[in-house]
Amino acid sequence: MTADVPEEIESVLISEQDIAAKVSELAARVDADYAGREILLVGVLKGAVMFMADFARALHTPVSMEFMAVTSYGSSTSSSGVVRILKDLDREIADKHVLVVEDVIDSGLTLSWLLRNMRSRGPASVEVVALLRKPEAAKVNVHVRYVGFDIASDFVVGYGLDYAERYRDLPFVGLLRPEVYEA
Ligand code: PRP
Repeated sequence: MTADVPEEIESVLISEQDIAAKVSELAARVDADYAGREILLVGVLKGAVMFMADFARALHTPVSMEFMAVTSYGSSTSSSGVVRILKDLDREIADKHVLVVEDVIDSGLTLSWLLRNMRSRGPASVEVVALLRKPEAAKVNVHVRYVGFDIASDFVVGYGLDYAERYRDLPFVGLLRPEVYEA
């Protein structure tokens, strides 16, 4: 099945089928690594919602799910590393095997802060699964155990990623036409 592509999208970077295959591959790796344990998935709102939903269903390992919403001070297009919690976890994570689920790692500043924050709560372990990573945009080195795709630092939307809160619902990851964000 081929999804409709809105005209604001220059091209499809990662198709729905490629995402589904990668989600299965990542889930199989996580299942193997966490055999005999339970995982607490921590999804970072809002971008990770689509990935979290598909990834959780692809796993065979028993999971529970928590969500956190954070915002970074600074401009709307780049993060500063100074993070404010908009919605905290609902439960303690002490002694749990936490797997942070992210849609994209750009500068790495949000994740770096988030990992420090998670570790301060005394979990049994903390790892990260990210569907996308932009290596050229990295400002800090963050260890990410599971990465779906390394991509260029272009403006991409879809599958949870937005521009001005739009396009999160696209089933693929696409390149946004520069005219849209330069307008
Ligand atoms: C995105 C993404 C990461 C962060 C990555 O969230 O979900 O949390 O930016 O950027 P960084 O590596 O440069 O810190 P965003 O702040 O856009 O919020 P959203 O998920 O609600 O769209």
